[in-house]
Amino acid sequence: MPDGYDATYARWRQDPEGYWLQAAGGIDWSAPPARAFDPGQGVYGRWFPDARLNICHNAIDRHVAAGRGGQPALIWDSPLAGAKSRLTYAELLDRTARLAGAMAARGVGAGDRVVIYMPMVPEAAIAMLACARLGAVHSVVFGGFAAAELAARITDAEPRLVLSASCGIEPGRVVKYKPLLDAALALSPHRVGACLVLQRETWRCELEPGRGEDMEAAMAAAAPHPCVEVAATDPLYILYTSGTTGKPKGILRDCGGYAVALHHSIGLLYGLGAGDVSWTASDVGWVVGHSYIVYGPLLAGCTSVIYEGKPVGTPDAGAFWRVCAEHGVKVLFTAPTALRAIKKEDPEGRLLAGHDLSKLEALFLAGERCDPDTALWAERLLRRPVVDHWWQTETGWCITGNFRGAGLFPMRAGSGGKPAPGYVVEALDEGGKPVPPGRIGSLAIRLPLPPACLPGLYRAEARFREAYLETFPGHYNTGDAGMVDEDGYVWVMSRTDDIINVAGHRLSTGAMEEVLASHPDVAECAVVGVRDSLKGQAPLGLVVLKAGVDKAEAVLARELVALVRERIGPVAAFKEARVVARLPKTRSGKILRATLRKLADGDEFAVPPTIDDPAILEEIGAVLKEARPVA
Ligand code: COA
Ligand code: AMP
Repeated sequence: MPDGYDATYARWRQDPEGYWLQAAGGIDWSAPPARAFDPGQGVYGRWFPDARLNICHNAIDRHVAAGRGGQPALIWDSPLAGAKSRLTYAELLDRTARLAGAMAARGVGAGDRVVIYMPMVPEAAIAMLACARLGAVHSVVFGGFAAAELAARITDAEPRLVLSASCGIEPGRVVKYKPLLDAALALSPHRVGACLVLQRETWRCELEPGRGEDMEAAMAAAAPHPCVEVAATDPLYILYTSGTTGKPKGILRDCGGYAVALHHSIGLLYGLGAGDVSWTASDVGWVVGHSYIVYGPLLAGCTSVIYEGKPVGTPDAGAFWRVCAEHGVKVLFTAPTALRAIKKEDPEGRLLAGHDLSKLEALFLAGERCDPDTALWAERLLRRPVVDHWWQTETGWCITGNFRGAGLFPMRAGSGGKPAPGYVVEALDEGGKPVPPGRIGSLAIRLPLPPACLPGLYRAEARFREAYLETFPGHYNTGDAGMVDEDGYVWVMSRTDDIINVAGHRLSTGAMEEVLASHPDVAECAVVGVRDSLKGQAPLGLVVLKAGVDKAEAVLARELVALVRERIGPVAAFKEARVVARLPKTRSGKILRATLRKLADGDEFAVPPTIDDPAILEEIGAVLKEARPVA
C-alpha cells in the first residue's frame, strides 16, 4: 500500500538528508555517500559531496550483471525512416563501450566536452551514455537549430569531439546535418579534435579526411572501454537553453544528484519499475529527452521507446496509439501541443479503435501549460489518469506533479499538481513576500534545490546568481508566474520574462529580436508570443522601419522570416512580422511587451500609466486587425 503523497512529502520535510540518503540506496556507488548534502560547497550547496560513481554503469552494466542483458533497453520506432529496431541491455552495453573506446582513442577523457548533434536514433542515446562512461561531459544540440546556434554552443562548450549523423528526417524533407555541422565548425573559432558521423541510409554524406569519420567503422575498430569512476559532483552534461538574451544558458548537471533523483522519480512519479516500457515522445535535444528517454528509464532498468516521428502526419493522428499498443507502453509522456495536434485531427478519437492500449496506465504531460480542455479531452478518451507536471531544463525533473508511486491525489485540470519531495514552492510578491493562497505571484523555490537541479551555469557563476538567485534571496526564481492554492496545488500561468513556449519548445524573444534588428531595413523591433491554438504560443515580430525605407511589408516579412530560420533555425517557428510606425514604450524607453502581447491576443488590458504615448496602442491594434499582407 503506497504511503500517500502527504506522508511522503512530510517524510522528506522532516528529514531531507535521510530521505535522499535512502533514495541514494537505489544507485550503485564506487564510494557510497556518507552524507547527502554539503551546504558549504558550490553556490548553494552540493549533493552527495563525498560519493563516487559512474552513471553509465548504473544505466547499463549493472542491469546486465543482474541478468537483464536479454531485456530490450531501447526500442527505436521511426515512421519517418520506415524502420524499427530493438537493442537489448547486452547489445547496448557492447555498442556504448565500443563508442567510448573509439572516443578515448581520439583523446576524449574525463571532463572533456563532447557535442552531440543527432536526430532521434538509438545512437544519440548511445553517444550520451558513451560520454558518461568516460566521465566526459556531453552537450546535445537539438536538430531544429541552425548552424549559427550550433556554432554558439560549440564555441561555449569547446568540445574535443563532435558526434553527429549524416541527416535527420522531418516530414517531407531530409535535414542534412553534416553540412550544418560543417557550417557551424567554420563559424566557430573553436577547433574540435575529431568528428564521428553516423551514416544513415536516408542520406549518406561525404566524409573526407579531417572533416569526419564513419562512426560505425570507428566503433568496430575500437576496444570496449570500461566505466570511469567520477565524483558525484562532477558534471555529466551541459544543456543549453534559452535565456532572455540571445546567448543561451549552459545548464550544468552533476552525476550523483541526477542519478539519485531520476532513479527515485521513475518509481515515485511515474510508477514504473524494471522491465516496464516507458515512452517519452520528446527529443533527446531537450531536457525531457535527457531525463526520460535516456537516463531515467535506463537507470531503473526499464525499456525506453525512441520515436522518430510526429503525433500527426506520420502517417496519421493514430500514431501515438499505434506505438503504445505495439510496444506495450505503460506510461506515455508528451507535451500538450502533441495532444492538441491529435485532438484537432481526430477529436472523437476514432483512430484509437483497433489499438490495444491495455498496458497503458497513465499519460504525463509537461513542457508548457496544459489547457484544461486538452487535459480533460485526453482523460475522457483514454480513461486513464492524465498527469500534468511542471518542469524546467534547470531542474532536470519535475518541480510539481502527481505521484503514482505514492498513490495519486485528485487531479485539478489546469494545475501542475503539488511539489515533489525536495521542493518548497512559493508564490512571491515583488518584495519577496508570499502572496495569499490563490493569488498570482512569482513562483520561487526555497533553497537548496533538490538533487538533479542545476548546481550552476557552465563557466558563468555570476550569470547564475543574477538570473536565478538574486531576485528573491534564499530562493531560486523560476521565471514562471502562478499561484499556490489553499490545498497546495500549484498553478503555472505564464513567464515573468521574455521567454516564450512554442509547441513545447522554449524560445527567447530576445534572441529573435537580435536577428530582426540585424536586418538593414529595421530601426527597432519587438517580438512577443501570441496565443496559438495548436502550439500554445507563436512568435510575432513588430518592426519599425528605418527612415526612407520603402519596401512592401510582405517582402520584408518574408526576408525576416528567412533570416530567423537561417540564424536560429526552423524550431523558432517564426512566421509573422508586421510593420508598425512606432513601438509602445515607457517614458524611460522600455518596450511594453506585456501590453503588446495582450493587444495581439485581443485581451483586455489597462493602459500602463508609464506609457509614453497611449495613441501608439491604437495604431498597432489597427495594424494587427488588418489581414496579413500577401507578397
Ligand atoms: N530537426 C530539424 N527540424 C525540426 C526538428 C528537428 N529535430 N524538429 C522540428 N523541426 C522543424 C519542423 O520541421 C518545423 O519546420 P517547418 O517550419 O519547415 O515546418 C519547425 O521546426 C517547427 O517545428 P514544430 O514547432 O515542432 O512544428 P511542427 O509543425 O513540425 O509540429 C507538432 C507540430 C505539435 C506536431 C510538434 O510541435 C510536436 O510534436 N511537438 C511536441 C513538442 C515536444 O515534444 N516538445 C518537447 C518538450 S516535452
Ligand atoms: P524547458 O526548460 O524547455 O523545459 O521549459 C520550461 C518552461 O516551460 C517552464 O519554465 C514553464 O514556463 C513551462 N512549463 C513546463 N512544464 C509546464 C507545465 N506542466 N505547466 C506550465 N508550464 C510549464
